[in-house]
Amino acid sequence: MPLRVLVAGKGGVGKTTISALLSFFLSSRGKRVLAVDTDSVPNLALALGLPQEVASSITPLVRDEGLVEERTGARPGQSWGVFFRLNPKVDDLISKYGIRVRDGLNLLVVGSIDSAKQGCLCPSIALVKALLRHIMLEEGDVVVVDAEAGAEVFGRGLAENFDQMLCVSEPTVKSLEVSRKLIEMGKQLGIRGISLVVNKFRGGAELEERIKNTFDVDVYFIPYDESFLQAEMEGRGADTYPKDSPGVKSAHKIFLELFG
Ligand SMILES: Nc1ncnc2c1ncn2[C@@H]1O[C@H](COP(=O)(O)OP(=O)(O)OP(=O)(O)O)[C@@H](O)[C@H]1O
Ligand SMILES: [Mg+2]
Repeated sequence: MPLRVLVAGKGGVGKTTISALLSFFLSSRGKRVLAVDTDSVPNLALALGLPQEVASSITPLVRDEGLVEERTGARPGQSWGVFFRLNPKVDDLISKYGIRVRDGLNLLVVGSIDSAKQGCLCPSIALVKALLRHIMLEEGDVVVVDAEAGAEVFGRGLAENFDQMLCVSEPTVKSLEVSRKLIEMGKQLGIRGISLVVNKFRGGAELEERIKNTFDVDVYFIPYDESFLQAEMEGRGADTYPKDSPGVKSAHKIFLELFG
């Protein structure tokens, strides 16, 4: 079985940054990686270093109405009274829609499944669920899913079948409380390896201890790192973040511990 990793958390905490860093880390250690973006804006493409023109030309899978209809038998938005296939064929989607970042590292932009904004997207959700469940990958491959902000990913049942969840948080009370809820949801769905990653951390050892003591999962810290922002402003991907920067060093240490 491939390893499926869900990167979740509140908006703006660093999910995409960490998904990209993890994807590059695993790929440079010889894993075949599929990075999946479930956000409506193709941020992961940029974080993976793809040029802006490429990133903005990507049509998210769930917005490809023709595809959704072909595979599920119903168009997005159609659900009441319309029967759609709950197990659509998905095994060819990576080869058809995957975007090569480098050898062994591909990106699949699935898109947002925010039902409140888009009306009922049940056929699209069925497609994405099937995709995450039946993705044709081999033993040793890794799927890294950059989840959309908040709890939508859980509410829609998309978070099923993950082996690991990195719950990313900022070191603020509000962000940590959101993480606490997401962690509980992850547990309820039976995700075995759940960790909290406190990102943009600027506190000392005492605050680290305090945060650790209020969670019953493993807690890791990534410091606030200007070089991430610098790279982003220059349109560079996470593979160009300086390897000796505090943020990258901490992230790699965490990844090594969790994913060896
Ligand atoms: N450790 C860090 N130090 C400093 N800045 C960081 C760090 N991690 C992420 N950032 C910056 O924070 C901003 C938000 O990061 P990112 O886009 O990864 O968050 P996100 O959780 O994916 O956001 P969204 O919910 O909008 O998808 C970016 O500008 C990113 O460069
Ligand atoms: Mg993001």
